[in-house]
Amino acid sequence: MIKRELDEKLIQQLKDKMLEGLLPQWVITDPDIYELEKEKVFGKTWQFLGHETELKETGSYVTRWMVNDPILLVKDSKKQIKAYLNSCTHRGTQLCTADRGKKKTFTCPYHGWSYNLDGKLVGIVAGNKVYGEEMCKDEWGLREIPRLENYRGMIFGCLDPHAETLEDYLGEMKWYFDMMLGRSDGGMEVIGLPQRWVAKANWKSTAENFAADPYHVQTTHRSTVEMGISPEDPLYAGYGHQVVMKNAHGINVITSKTGRSRSEFQGMPQSMWPMFQRNLTLEQADILERVTVFVGGVYPNLSFVSPIHGTEGHLHNYLNFRVWRPLGPDKVEVWCWFMIDKAAPEEYKADAYRGYLGSFGPTGTLEQDDTETWARIVEVSGASMMRDKELNYNNVSNYLMGFSHVKQDETFPGPGVAYPTTYCDALSRRMHEHWLDLLTANNSVKEESK
Ligand code: FES
Ligand SMILES: [Fe+2]
Repeated sequence: MIKRELDEKLIQQLKDKMLEGLLPQWVITDPDIYELEKEKVFGKTWQFLGHETELKETGSYVTRWMVNDPILLVKDSKKQIKAYLNSCTHRGTQLCTADRGKKKTFTCPYHGWSYNLDGKLVGIVAGNKVYGEEMCKDEWGLREIPRLENYRGMIFGCLDPHAETLEDYLGEMKWYFDMMLGRSDGGMEVIGLPQRWVAKANWKSTAENFAADPYHVQTTHRSTVEMGISPEDPLYAGYGHQVVMKNAHGINVITSKTGRSRSEFQGMPQSMWPMFQRNLTLEQADILERVTVFVGGVYPNLSFVSPIHGTEGHLHNYLNFRVWRPLGPDKVEVWCWFMIDKAAPEEYKADAYRGYLGSFGPTGTLEQDDTETWARIVEVSGASMMRDKELNYNNVSNYLMGFSHVKQDETFPGPGVAYPTTYCDALSRRMHEHWLDLLTANNSVKEESK
């Protein structure tokens, strides 16, 4: 029997600190905490796997990961998308090693067992001679993950059979996804493969950086100010709202000092604006018209950013989804999808893709800036002296009356709890509190077979 939980005294200490807006620094990279996160955070929550436009035809497949669980996403013979464990049922080797492709059957490289698109074991090399007539192939098909659901083309998986539905899990975030993913007839499409690379970072820091921290923009990305791309005003990424939602999801709706964007509808072609207005509610269309950047996250490890890039006359917008796949307490594999409205002109899509590569792609300038700071966080947070040091998360007043100045804005039209600035700790704090709730849920001794 192995006890795998935080002890009660430690939980109380963490809760007390969080109430004060403090995060003990050691929790970021602690190896035991990481082991618990795999089971209690990533084993219980919905994780993004891909977009339906990546699987266009019967037999199309992509291979993905949910932390260390290998996933084979396939469009089956009935054109349904299935998520199998990408592991042969014979001796367990990884079945499909390609990133993507199209097949009628998947044949294991080890002893040659083969499976059809519906996951059935259909071929065993020298089957009758090796296993006899009584071998029941039906019992040895591919194993599906417990849950697979789709919202507006976004495919999510969950390893907990008892989890709430994806729609319930997303909750208020659906309203914001509808605005980004549902503004155009035909929705969004993924262009190219998701790019991926490994970064020295902890997943909590990367998720927080994207979902909850526009405050870093004016310093970390200072070079954009010096190049004249961003304004001198240090508050420039703080104008707008930060919205905190159920399950610690959140979004920053960044506008500008005037509350307007530098370009209506994020620089999308004017010919598309009536379509956006037709597909959205008045409130959604108003926000989309005024926003400069949407940046946010679905807890635990999906982040997204929808920015404006380019110079006057050549502005473009796209949607970047990214998954922070933990590879350890101090390492993430970044998976980065470029998405754009199917209905956009082809030339516009190509321009936007070039803009993405130069900014948030693996070699993009903004990406390099962030990667450097994430590495420095893990570099120092495991140090001996950090066991009793805390980090500051307390500029939000509804968590601790009178502690600071940022208060809820009840006039914001979208769902969730909105604050009238994105330089705000509300969402970060919610993410940390939720993290602790998950780590301590059903906190009882668990039995594990050895
Ligand atoms: S491990 Fe796949 S056929 Fe043996
Ligand atoms: Fe950044």
